[in-house]
Amino acid sequence: MKHIVASAEPLASRVGLTILQRGGNAVDAAVAVGFALAVTYPQAGNLGGGGFLLWRSREGKTAALDYREQAPQAAFREVYLDAQGNVLEKEGGPTQGWRASGVPGTVAGLALAHRKLGSGKLSFAELIEPARALAAGGFIVPENLARSLELSAALLSPYAESKRLFVGRKTGERLTQPELAATLARIQKNGPREFYEGETAKRIVKAMRPHRWITEADLRAYAVKERTVVTGRYRGHGIISMPPPSSGGAVLIEILNILEGYDLMRLGWENPLRWHLLVEAMKRAFADRAAFFGDPDFVKIPVAKLTDPAYAARWREGIDLRKTVASLLLRAGEPSKEPEHTTHFSIVDAEGNAVSNTYTLNGSYGSGVTIPGTGILMNNEMDDFAASPGKPNRYGLIQGESNAVAAKKRPLSSMSPTFVTKPGGQLCLVIGSPGGPTIINTVLQVILNVVDHRQSIAEAIAAPRIHHQWLPDEVAVERSLPASVRTGLEQRGHVLSKPRVLGDAQGILVAADGTCTGASDPRGHGSAVGA
Ligand code: DON
Repeated sequence: MKHIVASAEPLASRVGLTILQRGGNAVDAAVAVGFALAVTYPQAGNLGGGGFLLWRSREGKTAALDYREQAPQAAFREVYLDAQGNVLEKEGGPTQGWRASGVPGTVAGLALAHRKLGSGKLSFAELIEPARALAAGGFIVPENLARSLELSAALLSPYAESKRLFVGRKTGERLTQPELAATLARIQKNGPREFYEGETAKRIVKAMRPHRWITEADLRAYAVKERTVVTGRYRGHGIISMPPPSSGGAVLIEILNILEGYDLMRLGWENPLRWHLLVEAMKRAFADRAAFFGDPDFVKIPVAKLTDPAYAARWREGIDLRKTVASLLLRAGEPSKEPEHTTHFSIVDAEGNAVSNTYTLNGSYGSGVTIPGTGILMNNEMDDFAASPGKPNRYGLIQGESNAVAAKKRPLSSMSPTFVTKPGGQLCLVIGSPGGPTIINTVLQVILNVVDHRQSIAEAIAAPRIHHQWLPDEVAVERSLPASVRTGLEQRGHVLSKPRVLGDAQGILVAADGTCTGASDPRGHGSAVGA
């Protein structure tokens, strides 16, 4: 296949392919997919959230657009604490309701991507049109969406507009979203500032006013930040990934650097020692994540040191091949808790340009709030901040000071849109996933499966995965992890969690002749389509 789109929702993958077939490049397709998912995948596709878009041209130029949500002016360090210093739950807290949202970045992010990196052949309005048509004409609710809406009914029901639009939707019925279609039409007509200064902004501000949260000034001040990609090497391959405010790229590279000191290929995929080494590397890099990471515009992060192979070599000195070490003996810090939804898409066009994009509302359906008259579901990204720095949170996790809440600050992320290049520099892999902190380890293991174990993209994505995030000091495992690996880990002192599902990766592998093969994670319901 010469061009390909892998996303978590088949209608959106199709939209992307159509744009490529009309002569659009990978970025044009990404913009169209980003808007389409906001309609067909309301769990995570969004206008009311944010994310990161990584781009690589066929010549190897790169860009990293940070369209992460930003805390509004009304936010401050203790904003989510009650008088006793406990984190507020439900309305008023960081996970649910009006005050859980950061200022959304998606519309600005996709617009900047189109303006700077698009082919110029298709207008922004043309790229929004498939999404608008899907919102206006509706689409048939697939079983997985109906099930997910049922699971989120308690979150959505307190908010009249969310309840009316989403609660009680059944498999097979047509879901039309006229308000969202009208919002998309206004953005088509007036451009992206519509969201930040136009009628849409007015409606957001009006709805937010009683809750004293996102204001007109907050929306007007929102800006996408162009970051410099973080890079590393793994067995001769180049790694290109997302820098802070995502911890993803740097932590991924740190883990790969630690693992490079071991011959994983010779050990073989099923060898328990290989899995022990993975966990030991994850634990150490996540301890660093906890201690050092936050919004780089607020805290100084030693990314160069953490991604230096010499630093990884020092970590390796302490790794015992026979047994694990207790997390608390490594270093204090903060793992983030794990909300349920985010989505990634990978696109390669016929010329070899590529986009790796992860965006999110944070949890499924974000804060649960839909802004009346707009069809826009809002994020609960404020929950990615440490609401109570230095103290264990509701889940017994310690949260780091570098990621404390502050006005205009962006919450720390784990989203890791990534490219891998061959030793000669050609593009080899486009990859990313949802899964909160597990994202980093999902991306890691797909890379290891491709680079060390020579698996096809479908095998590399389908293979069972593990996750360790420093604290809690346990290894999350998938049900299909071979019994011999489980036993081998337990013999080395690892505590294994109850089986979980880890990630929903969307990847594209590019062969030396430029042929692409895509795969959408069998754990989810997406599709990889190409022509
Ligand atoms: O930015 C982050 O790391 C989180 N907001 C991502 C949340 C997520 O992946 C939930 N997905 N399953």
